[in-house]
Amino acid sequence: MTIRSVTLRNRIWVAPMCQYSAEEQDGMPNDWHLVHLGSFATGGAALVITEATAVSPEGRISPQDLGIWNDAQRDVFARITAFIRSQGAVPGIQLAHAGRKASTFRPWSEEHGSVPVDQGGWPTVGPSALAFGRYAEPRALTVDEIAGVVEDFRAAARRSVEAGFDVLEVHAAHGYLLNQFLSPLSNRREDEYGGSLENRARLLLEVVRVVREEAGPDRVVFVRFSATDWTEGGFDAEQTATVADWAAAEGADLADISSGGNVAGATIPVGPLYQVPLAAEVRRDSGVPVSAVGLITTPREAEDVVASGRADAVMLARELLRDPHFPLRAADELGVDIDYWPAQYLRARLPRS
Ligand SMILES: Cc1cc2nc3c(=O)[nH]c(=O)nc-3n(C[C@H](O)[C@H](O)[C@H](O)COP(=O)(O)O)c2cc1C
Repeated sequence: MTIRSVTLRNRIWVAPMCQYSAEEQDGMPNDWHLVHLGSFATGGAALVITEATAVSPEGRISPQDLGIWNDAQRDVFARITAFIRSQGAVPGIQLAHAGRKASTFRPWSEEHGSVPVDQGGWPTVGPSALAFGRYAEPRALTVDEIAGVVEDFRAAARRSVEAGFDVLEVHAAHGYLLNQFLSPLSNRREDEYGGSLENRARLLLEVVRVVREEAGPDRVVFVRFSATDWTEGGFDAEQTATVADWAAAEGADLADISSGGNVAGATIPVGPLYQVPLAAEVRRDSGVPVSAVGLITTPREAEDVVASGRADAVMLARELLRDPHFPLRAADELGVDIDYWPAQYLRARLPRS
């Protein structure tokens, strides 16, 4: 699949996955991130997208998240993108601001919820002063501060390009800042950033515009959406399709369709391929290519999702944690001859009859 000047060797892509492993709490990637992301590149995935990488310190989900708000972070990412590329995969980065869901303990901490300021946390911001579940209440961003967020995305996109990323994904899903603006359940603003769908989408579109400007004409821009809040009166697939078209007009190339994360306690009908119908709906109702994600765990399922035209590509997360070489195994299982088995691993390739 070729998008702009970027060619992807297959349609199995690595979904962004937070590692909460910047131990110095400085947003810096380290050897863990190199090995974690590098293993997917040796494993045959076409596109390896980093975890949600914060565009500013206060945009981190946890103090241990990665960031790309300074040149030192950029320079370590450059080593990671070089390795990914050396294995024939395309390096991508997910650019993120966590908004009201920032400053939380990492999942395996003994404590949960918001990290207090005196323990290294920070005050959070959002479209409105509405807390997510039991998290700390955010402060509503001023219009000037919103412009600052856009500039943070711009600077992060510029550094991402300098670090060698070919795909820049804007994180507008899972209840993080841009999703908070999109959903009427978290955005109660009465200015030009709230109310109508056009107003709720304004910040995302401003971000996509500057990310495209920094990406230039050759690199690829994705937007990850939560295509439903799984809650009556929330953001939904119909609105997603409309916003995906608007984002495409600002330079986005593909909508990465996920769901949920913006309403604490929403009931989500989790099961195999559970988000694929959302991807198919957005693909049908917008003019935008889509990727599907969510409990796609077998080579046959992945193949069927793409072959049936429900999505243009699949992203896998947890199955790739279990088996970073899933794409190599999938090729064997489906009888596809690929030329990117690492020479070092060729003895593991199943013999062909
Ligand atoms: C460990 C882990 C970390 C994740 N971090 C992110 C993230 O940083 N950004 C994001 O958009 N989604 C994140 N997700 C969600 C995945 O990208 C994916 O959408 C979800 O896990 C469903 O796909 P799966 O069933 O293949 O795991 C994460 C998931 C896991 C398991």
